[in-house]
Amino acid sequence: MKEKLLEKFAELFGDAEGVKVYFAPGRVNLIGEHTDYNGGHVFPCALTIGTYGAARKRTDNKLHFYSMNFERVGMQEAAVDALEKEKDSDWTNYPKGVMWTFAKRGYEMPCGLDLVLFGNIPNGSGLSSSASLEVLTGFILRDLYGFDVTNTDLALIGQYAENNYNGMNCGIMDQFASAMGKKDNAIFLDTATLSYEYAPIELEGAKVVVTNSKVKHSLVNSAYNQRRSECETALSELQNVADIKGLGDLSEEEFEKYKTAIKDDVRVRRAKHAVYENRRTIRAVEALKNNDIVLFGELMNASHVSLRDDYEVSCEEIDILVDEAWKISGVIGSRITGGGFGGCTVSIVKDEAIDTFKEQLGKAYEEKTGKTAEFYIVEIGDGPYIL
Ligand code: GLA
Repeated sequence: MKEKLLEKFAELFGDAEGVKVYFAPGRVNLIGEHTDYNGGHVFPCALTIGTYGAARKRTDNKLHFYSMNFERVGMQEAAVDALEKEKDSDWTNYPKGVMWTFAKRGYEMPCGLDLVLFGNIPNGSGLSSSASLEVLTGFILRDLYGFDVTNTDLALIGQYAENNYNGMNCGIMDQFASAMGKKDNAIFLDTATLSYEYAPIELEGAKVVVTNSKVKHSLVNSAYNQRRSECETALSELQNVADIKGLGDLSEEEFEKYKTAIKDDVRVRRAKHAVYENRRTIRAVEALKNNDIVLFGELMNASHVSLRDDYEVSCEEIDILVDEAWKISGVIGSRITGGGFGGCTVSIVKDEAIDTFKEQLGKAYEEKTGKTAEFYIVEIGDGPYIL
């Protein structure tokens, strides 16, 4: 990969002297969905796929962006002192947003840079290609300009850029998983405090399998932002009767006791998901510690039902993948993963059932939707690094 990027860099900018190549991972979330902006827990892990970038400082203030994934678009230009929000958004808004956020925090880039990118996360798959690009950009800026920021800062900067430059009100999970990833471990993160703990994923005789539906429904961002604001309204209604900072502060019992304070049925279901999903996540990590993989799988399945029925972020194609997966013997658990409305499912499958899983699920999905699913056996990787 390094050679490929350096070659492209030299082709575009004359030579590749002094160019460094960097990587930041995508993520898959095992459980804890739509809890991260509700002060709840999440349990994602970094992948070994993500975004690569070859970068070199310039002597002027220009920025050159080139993506090997969008060759037809060609080279994009900007300038370090002209990063104010632009309406004609494209993929360069991710790196630009991060640079803009750094500058807002007092980390001004003293000069521009040339950046060639390549990502190997399937487009629109919900495996956080955008978060990986944000974390990658922050990581590159820190290395090239010596900005004094931690990896947690890189995650927060990425999230800020996504919220305020790109208009997507995401939580912290994706950027945190990318910035803080650790090989063979998932991250049990309390989004209320950002305290976290690594949990080794050593599934005896089973693997984590991601299935890409290859579907991405439109209006994802607006539906996501809408869910978030429904939760915020529900929280403020609950705050009339309970002393809480986030929905993640409530147990299931407390929620049942207070829920009549929420004056709309849809909002009751949204808040219920956030509360119950948070508790499921805590319980799932507990189960993993006790080597109770069966319980972990049951909690994954319950997570899917809640995301489908109460949070309403699934879709027909994803429900087919999950329903069909549940029928296959050797499947320990299966659910939608990520923001929703398409993208991927995550499943835990026994080693000996993996071939059947791919074959049977692939066939059923194709028969029912006319689409070809893609399978990816998860390798859990590290956070950002220099190649
Ligand atoms: C998207 C967001 C995350 C998180 C998930 C749902 O991936 O970027 O912050 O809210 O959806 O769990």
